Amino acid sequence: MIIVAIDGPAGAGKSTIAKALAEKLNLRYLDTGAMYRAVTFAALTRNVQLHDESAVAEIARRSVLMIDDDSIVIDGVDATAAIRGAEVTRSVSVVATNSLVRTELRNRQRQWVSEHGGGVVEGRDIGSVVFPDATLKVYLTASPIVRARRRVAQSGGDVQQIAAEIAERDQRDSSRSDSPLMKTVDSITVDTSDRAIEDVVAQLKQLIADNSANGEFVA
Ligand code: DC
Repeated sequence: MIIVAIDGPAGAGKSTIAKALAEKLNLRYLDTGAMYRAVTFAALTRNVQLHDESAVAEIARRSVLMIDDDSIVIDGVDATAAIRGAEVTRSVSVVATNSLVRTELRNRQRQWVSEHGGGVVEGRDIGSVVFPDATLKVYLTASPIVRARRRVAQSGGDVQQIAAEIAERDQRDSSRSDSPLMKTVDSITVDTSDRAIEDVVAQLKQLIADNSANGEFVA
């Protein structure tokens, strides 16, 4: 079973590269950030206080989450567009610090992978916590300005303001006590600042092929 873990900060190119790699490898793709965003969306629309850890965890535990390559539906409500909106983006890192939510979503991620016979999974704690034995662990990064520009190209806004928001979210994601964003010693770091998507995807595909041939991956 091939499991590729792709972690890194916002705007590093995780989704684009993970999707393209999954397609090349004929594997399914899972965006775990979308799961944290969907729980945040549900809490906001139900007027649940985001700092009320047990109430938000209850949403995570009880919700029926249907996640596909291009859509996410929570309890029958299509949240695909709303989870990318400013309100969810601003609020999601509070939900991501909730350990009760993390435990629930982690279990669901493992279950998803076992049901799909592997996959390319992107997030912040995939190589470090969710799948420490993944076939390949990638830490994708890019310079802060490149990351901000990519976000602006995707959803508009002011580069300086987006750069500040990204820096704040990175800081929260990296400093939380439960499964912070970090590089593991056995992950390969890829800086996507000046590289074409196809080039990075080809490199990762080659690493997986080498790994499968050797029986074990050495970064
Ligand atoms: O990748 P993204 O921007 O959609 O992630 C949304 C938020 O969820 C972000 O603040 C990081 C957090 N997250 C996390 O803590 N662990 C994951 N595995 C995925 C995302």
